[in-house]
Amino acid sequence: MNILLLGSGGREHALAWKMRVSPLLDNLFIAPGNAGTALLGNNLDVDPEDFNGVKRAALKNNIDMVVVGPEVPLVKGISDFFLNDPELSAIPVIGPSARGAQLEGSKEFAKQFMMQHKIPTARYLAVTADTIDEGERFLETLKAPYVLKADGLAAGKGVLIIDDIDEARNELQMMLGGKFGKASDTVVIEEFLSGIELSVFVVTDGHGYMILPEAKDYKRIGEGDTGLNTGGMGAVSPVPFADEEFMEKVEKRIIRPTVEGLKSDGIDYKGFIFFGLIKVDGDPFVIEYNVRMGDPETEVVMPRFQSDIVEVFKAVASGRLKELTPRFDTRTAVTVMMVSGGYPGKYEKGKNILGLDHVEGSIVFHAGTTSSNGVITSGGRVLAVTSLGDSMDEALKKSYENAENIQFENKYFRKDIGFDLK
Ligand code: AMP
Ligand code: GLY
Repeated sequence: MNILLLGSGGREHALAWKMRVSPLLDNLFIAPGNAGTALLGNNLDVDPEDFNGVKRAALKNNIDMVVVGPEVPLVKGISDFFLNDPELSAIPVIGPSARGAQLEGSKEFAKQFMMQHKIPTARYLAVTADTIDEGERFLETLKAPYVLKADGLAAGKGVLIIDDIDEARNELQMMLGGKFGKASDTVVIEEFLSGIELSVFVVTDGHGYMILPEAKDYKRIGEGDTGLNTGGMGAVSPVPFADEEFMEKVEKRIIRPTVEGLKSDGIDYKGFIFFGLIKVDGDPFVIEYNVRMGDPETEVVMPRFQSDIVEVFKAVASGRLKELTPRFDTRTAVTVMMVSGGYPGKYEKGKNILGLDHVEGSIVFHAGTTSSNGVITSGGRVLAVTSLGDSMDEALKKSYENAENIQFENKYFRKDIGFDLK
């Protein structure tokens, strides 16, 4: 079959890499892709948010299935667009309908969903400019630090954690006054949960679900989890503290009620669900839902996934996921993200990348690269260097060695990935 994958980051390179080894795959197209995905299929110069452009690409290339990497096209309704267009309705889309994508697209929707289905999460109140007084009173019932979340998508920047209540009141006013544009017309105020975070992934056909390997990512730019938030500086899978007892709680209290809740709410959901969880005194709570795979988590999850991902996607499309049993590599996978100097602030692009041909013992997933007389940087996050090992340290050693040897001007990577798991 011919598959069109939407997106251009390390997540998409890892998905493409996994799909490429499937005997069920004929032609792979990636829109727009990067210099890494170009080695596995045909990159198309199409913006995933330009649905008519995606339609033209799908019809021209006889596409049999679309796999959606990032959240924005899902929240904007690409699955519904395909379903409602007579020329496209026979092409399954792996990714939820716009209603399902509200789990990520609206924090208030996600919170209401969790309340309704009794899924453990932090206490909250959703407020608008009209109810700001209630919001301030709610803040007074909480202990510091205070968590304020823009309701809508804000490119990963819409969550503020504030120590001081006066500052929290101020920020609340600024958010409701348009700090994040329309995304913060509604603000979710949340109780702060103290614990250790991890990411759990499932793929669902709306009835059954398959749990994928869990992972932990490292979001801050600086070592020891300091400095600004980034898209993610590295990841590890499996997560040692996600033991059997904990994962049983996750499945029983969170995964099953989520999939059953979507079904009982009449929400069509075929795709990935990413549970951003926190473990508090041994119990799991949901920090957030995402309706896609994580990045850089995919760069450690896919290398540990031993089943045929295209077969899984076919089963998702036909509602037969329950018939499959997944297989996982029990080794540890790590990924180390190489980024452009200055990221997540201002950084330069267009730097030549050298040394990719000499990588040994790691898989390099491209995150922000393009081809132009060789491979050049085109983003803040540039390359994810993934390795497998019998231990985390063994895997890290390989990734760090290769990250040292790959060169581009002003490269930076964290050297303490997994530091809190040792
Ligand atoms: P997000 O941008 O939605 O991934 O949230 C950013 C980060 O904020 C999360 O990864 C958590 O570290 C933190 N966070 C969000 N909500 C809470 C909460 N209720 N308690 C503690 N930390 C939180
Ligand atoms: N690594 C976190 C995310 O993909 O949102």
